[in-house]
Amino acid sequence: MPATTFLPRRFVILISGLGSNMQAIVRACQQNACPADVLAVISSRADAAGLAWVQGQGIATRVVAHTNFSSRETFDAALAAEIDQFEPDYVLLAGFMRVLTPEFVQHYSGRLVNIHPSLLPAFPGLHTHAQALAKGVQAHGCTVHFVTPLLDHGPIIAQGVVPVKEDDKPETLARRVLSVEHVVYPQVASWLAQGRVHLMQDQRVQVDGAPSRLFISEHE
Ligand code: GAR
Repeated sequence: MPATTFLPRRFVILISGLGSNMQAIVRACQQNACPADVLAVISSRADAAGLAWVQGQGIATRVVAHTNFSSRETFDAALAAEIDQFEPDYVLLAGFMRVLTPEFVQHYSGRLVNIHPSLLPAFPGLHTHAQALAKGVQAHGCTVHFVTPLLDHGPIIAQGVVPVKEDDKPETLARRVLSVEHVVYPQVASWLAQGRVHLMQDQRVQVDGAPSRLFISEHE
């Protein structure tokens, strides 16, 4: 019997800015905590800070600048053409600040994953930390989820919880949420790479046959 060789899963990561979540995933892959290859990082902005970092890691980069396109449809078609050259198993959105067309989402159905800085379904959209403080919630956090055509919506793979402090400002809360994001997203990436994540018929997600464990911020 020929030995079965395990082929690492192929990731393409999309960013628009700092790319700190992308860096956390790339590091996890480099340190063998996540058995996947990040084949390319694609940015919607040429000036995204994360691009310079990833170039130093020997990973391909591409820019598909949304400002060069007159419609969402033409932007998404150009983006998909770049992504598909790398034949990824999964496309990971990591601070990718574009609303995607239903056609794009459908093209990557079950393979498109996003991180959002709130405990979805609470606080979709922008300024999530300010929204959370304005509502007086005691727990805030982040969600990693499969992408559907609705903005910041879709089957939840994992969540990270951050207790809200009385004197929190959007910036202080954002810092603690981002640090739990850097734990949750590489862990989900690793589960995906190992084939441990399953989208069930009822649109709930199981990891190893059960809901994923809850991540709780260690920062007080
Ligand atoms: C992260 O907080 C991520 O959750 C958020 O943008 C930030 C990107 O930071 N994404 C969204 O708001 C998507 N709706 P990063 O570029 O340092 O990873």
